[in-house]
Amino acid sequence: MSQHPDINDNITSSNTTDEQALNSTEQHSDIDSSADSETEPATDKHLRIVNTFMKRRTHMNKNAELALTAPEFADYLVNNSFGDGNLDGIDNLRSLFTDSPNGSEAPLTLEIGFGLGDSFIEMAAAEPTRNFVGVEVHEPGIGKCAYMAGTQGLTNVKIINGDAIQLLKQLPENHIDRIQLYFPDPWQKKRHYKRRFVSPERMTIVTRSLKQGGWFHTATDWEHYAFWMVDVLDNFAGLTNQAGAGNFTDRPDFRPMTKFERRGLERGHGVWDLIYIKD
Ligand SMILES: C[S@@+](CC[C@H](N)C(=O)[O-])C[C@H]1O[C@@H](n2cnc3c(N)ncnc32)[C@H](O)[C@@H]1O
Repeated sequence: MSQHPDINDNITSSNTTDEQALNSTEQHSDIDSSADSETEPATDKHLRIVNTFMKRRTHMNKNAELALTAPEFADYLVNNSFGDGNLDGIDNLRSLFTDSPNGSEAPLTLEIGFGLGDSFIEMAAAEPTRNFVGVEVHEPGIGKCAYMAGTQGLTNVKIINGDAIQLLKQLPENHIDRIQLYFPDPWQKKRHYKRRFVSPERMTIVTRSLKQGGWFHTATDWEHYAFWMVDVLDNFAGLTNQAGAGNFTDRPDFRPMTKFERRGLERGHGVWDLIYIKD
């Protein structure tokens, strides 16, 4: 495994823009001094077992707040009315689209941790006959994503507020065509590696819900995490590296640049994509 730069970025921000909202999630990965144990004090009962992110309360911009409260955006927000991160009863993503133009049998993509949602919405708009579900815990991002979906009139998007791992555990086997995880929190410090989303334990949960022939697509700008991922995934029974064992995939045209990708490139990071097919 190659060595990665051990950078603590120490980003702080007090403005109230979308940038700020997403920078607050950067703190999860970069300077999280309170994340030394797997079990932080719980902020609510639904988040107690989550350990791939740190929940932060940050300012929400007006559009995001509007989308989280106004009835015209309600159809996008699967569990908005259930409260913070409560996934009770969400056990089928296909049935969310039963009354939509695509219906429930259309190809289905789940994006884990879409951040502010720009690239997620761009992908959904570019492929209107495919259904897209995004799961995120960061409420300003959830609001912004719903706002973009609503203002563009998309009919193939649903947004879930909560922990992706808990959600995946509740879903049927062989349910999803593509699962995408773009620029997940890198958890650079050795004592935080256990929080990395790509781990054998979490991949068991991810692949269970993937259809046979379905994809798991991930990308990172952190070299250490990139080689960690290829090691975990190449050695995971039931997944085949589309580029051949040990190889990364060329950046696919269909993946728009994400906020965190751009930020990584500005800092001189590389970008590594990986696509695995479920056997
Ligand atoms: C580093 S950001 C990347 C955001 C976006 N994909 C991008 O590339 O700009 C990682 C995001 O994943 C979310 N996240 C981390 N673990 C998660 C989980 N278990 N369930 C849902 N979202 C999660 C965080 O809240 C954060 O917004």
